[in-house]
Amino acid sequence: MKTLVILTGHSRGLGAALTDELLGLGCSVIGLSRKSLVPKGAAKPGCFFDQVAIDLADSEALGRLLADDCLSKPIRDADRAILINNAGLLNPVGLVGEQSPTEIAQSVSTNVTAVLMLTNWFAKVSQKTADRRLVQVSSGAARSAYSGWSVYCATKAALDHHVRCLAMEAEQPHSPSFGLKICSLAPGVIDTDMQAQVRASDLASFPMRPKFDELKASGSLASPEDVSQRLCKHLFSDGFGKDPVADLRSIG
Ligand SMILES: NC(=O)c1ccc[n+]([C@@H]2O[C@H](COP(=O)([O-])OP(=O)(O)OC[C@H]3O[C@@H](n4cnc5c(N)ncnc54)[C@H](OP(=O)(O)O)[C@@H]3O)[C@@H](O)[C@H]2O)c1
Repeated sequence: MKTLVILTGHSRGLGAALTDELLGLGCSVIGLSRKSLVPKGAAKPGCFFDQVAIDLADSEALGRLLADDCLSKPIRDADRAILINNAGLLNPVGLVGEQSPTEIAQSVSTNVTAVLMLTNWFAKVSQKTADRRLVQVSSGAARSAYSGWSVYCATKAALDHHVRCLAMEAEQPHSPSFGLKICSLAPGVIDTDMQAQVRASDLASFPMRPKFDELKASGSLASPEDVSQRLCKHLFSDGFGKDPVADLRSIG
């Protein structure tokens, strides 16, 4: 079976580990990030790795990319098509009234607008693909409130709620999403650059910081490799999509 995965935010952190895991599982991967990645291993015979340099906060550039055939043709050629919206920004960290307007716009564009644009495009171009799956990389912050993370929490909550609507459409035969398997998945707390950024926050901007300092100090952060293995195990399981909003920590 030819499996094609379009993965955003593949250049670092969870996305880089997912790229290695997916290539190792015999998938073809197209990564979308601003920077590039040299994967640890090569694609399996008959598969490929490709990457596109794009700033997902630039909605016009993303619109142009999606209008081009370079991403939709590999989907049409695949037996199984997967979109993983993994790219995400934590900033702005800070209290409402003290945030940078530019960072608010970048966060909403990257964490929400780009995800909804890619999802809309994917639902349309993958309609003839026998098996198609979508993962929105969400966060516990979508489901619990944190002072200082209002924008991040709101953007991730938007993804969860969009998926609840999409899951209804996936059951409607006339819908472009009919049969699409979907999950907005919180991955748990992972030892990546984003967590280093959390620990670098000042206490006034993010009063919950000591909790995350302690997770690092006690060795409680999950490795990107472990999370990517568990995420892929769930993604390729028969149960994928049965629960459209889920937490990887409570799955197998
Ligand atoms: N780490 C955690 O504890 C944790 C917990 C819950 C949820 N998450 C979620 O998991 C996902 C991955 O997080 P991570 O920890 O791996 O983050 P990370 O280490 O900060 O990596 C973020 C990735 O997103 C890409 N990205 C960010 N802004 C982008 C933009 N404007 N255009 C294109 N690509 C962009 C980055 O690539 P470039 O810089 O090359 O563009 C990078 O590949 C995120 O959605 C995050 O919200 C993480």
